[in-house]
Amino acid sequence: MGSLEVLPDGAALAEAAANHFVALARVAVRVRGLFRVALSGGSTPRGAYQCLASEAFASQVDWQRVHVFWGDERCVPPDHPDSNFRMAKEALLDHVPLASEHVHRVRGELDPKLAAADYEETLRGAFYPDLSASGANDIPVPRFDLILLGMGDDGHTASLFPGTAALHEARRWVVANHVAKLDSWRITLTPVVVNAAAQLVFLVSGAGKSERLREVRGGPYRPDALPAQLVEPTDGDLLWLVDQAAASLL
Ligand code: 6PG
Repeated sequence: MGSLEVLPDGAALAEAAANHFVALARVAVRVRGLFRVALSGGSTPRGAYQCLASEAFASQVDWQRVHVFWGDERCVPPDHPDSNFRMAKEALLDHVPLASEHVHRVRGELDPKLAAADYEETLRGAFYPDLSASGANDIPVPRFDLILLGMGDDGHTASLFPGTAALHEARRWVVANHVAKLDSWRITLTPVVVNAAAQLVFLVSGAGKSERLREVRGGPYRPDALPAQLVEPTDGDLLWLVDQAAASLL
């Protein structure tokens, strides 16, 4: 279920998300010398990135020790208007001193299955740099310090959409997921990686999400229809940052 923080509006939600990012980054850098975060696509997360990119927040982060990943990506080139990488680049990455080798994007321009395998290799290299590619099958699931998540009005999160195969993937870290309703492929972290994170933060805003949010948080457990219900950290914290409009039915 996770804890819930209700903010007055989208701007306050964005600021709260930026505050949490800064606080989590500070602890991770102090304790382990780096902060590994997976970003989400979507308009609500974009507002948080724009806030985080402002001097007041960006100046509080040791960006040289931050590694940025994505929770999911569309199968498009990095300069495509639909690209989650492009959105984060424009809203945040172009405004902070983050080394390019610390930006680990999904190569959405590849064939979907190749893109998924490539991104899985990226995770392996980033989390287990000393492991040879051969000894890779029984290594622990990568544990992100933070994964930011949005929630669609159909209850999807990342690119874990209702009724799709990715919901049931129990071994792979990253899969290509065909989303029939969008008639498109997506690349997404699987539930096992999402739930291995130390901190999971949902960012949900707008009245259009209120019914679904009520179902996800308070209704029967039916994750195939409401994939956001799959998000339950195995050894971490889950926080829902929502605005009053989205929380109106809670
Ligand atoms: C994506 C996101 C997706 C998004 C939700 C919420 O690739 O689109 O990963 O999961 O976070 O659809 O998006 P909004 O905040 O724009 O409603």
